[in-house]
Amino acid sequence: MNNKKSKYQQPIEIAEGIHWVGFYDDEYFLHCNPFLIIEGEEAVLIDGGSRNDFSTVMLKILQTGVNPNNIKKLIYHHYDPDLCGSIPDFEELIDNEELKILSHTDNNLFIKYYGTDLKSECIEKNDFQFQFLTGRKLKFIMTPYCHSSASFVTFDEKTGTLFSSDLFGSTAKEWDLFADLDESCHTCNNYNLSSPINCKLKKKECPISKILFFHQKIMTSKKALDFALDRIRKLPIKIIASQHGSLIRGSKDIEFIINVLKKEKKIGINQFFEDEQI
Ligand SMILES: [Fe+2]
Ligand SMILES: [Fe+2]
Repeated sequence: MNNKKSKYQQPIEIAEGIHWVGFYDDEYFLHCNPFLIIEGEEAVLIDGGSRNDFSTVMLKILQTGVNPNNIKKLIYHHYDPDLCGSIPDFEELIDNEELKILSHTDNNLFIKYYGTDLKSECIEKNDFQFQFLTGRKLKFIMTPYCHSSASFVTFDEKTGTLFSSDLFGSTAKEWDLFADLDESCHTCNNYNLSSPINCKLKKKECPISKILFFHQKIMTSKKALDFALDRIRKLPIKIIASQHGSLIRGSKDIEFIINVLKKEKKIGINQFFEDEQI
């Protein structure tokens, strides 16, 4: 087993009660990051993962020590298979009559096609928030068309953790759970998007290029991305827990990456038009 793989054999608590339950993926470069929040006797799973990932993610969930039957909600930020594919597996394994899918109505419309009989709740009908019995609150912030029409992000007020789903994501060959940037990243602007692994500062992979490249491909337009980033930057974020790539922590790195993304013009459909008004 390679070093990286063994380093990530256990779940990792990234903030109080928030456990990364993903794994080091040496097969695909699109690392998927599911998260489990354990709060008192309740737990919620965020973007649980693909069908192929289920057994590995489930093992990590058990390693946190949680009783899986305490999982009350499965939160899905949109309806892609890389986060929703394992819904039928969780449905079969979790013995909790209260278990529900929590997403936006426009996502739930598609999520049911994963073959689930689970009931779903709609975030907009519950004032865009979920409250644990302890009072801990998760706030849901709509980020439309980043990249699905009803995409949203989840903010844990207690720890300042933003579960950003595909936003701030990236692909990576040289993956680590945290993308702590060094000073050279903050001063370099030699991003090479046509070859994201060609770092001018001789790093194996440029973390900024990888994020930009992913947003160019996955997000729908500059307008949609700007709209989402303007909403997100108003939050007191301490850590961005993205569904792909590495997590970003600390206000300096977070603000820097938001600014880099804001400057990029060729996002989604904008790659095909000169007119920035689109
Ligand atoms: Fe997606
Ligand atoms: Fe994704």
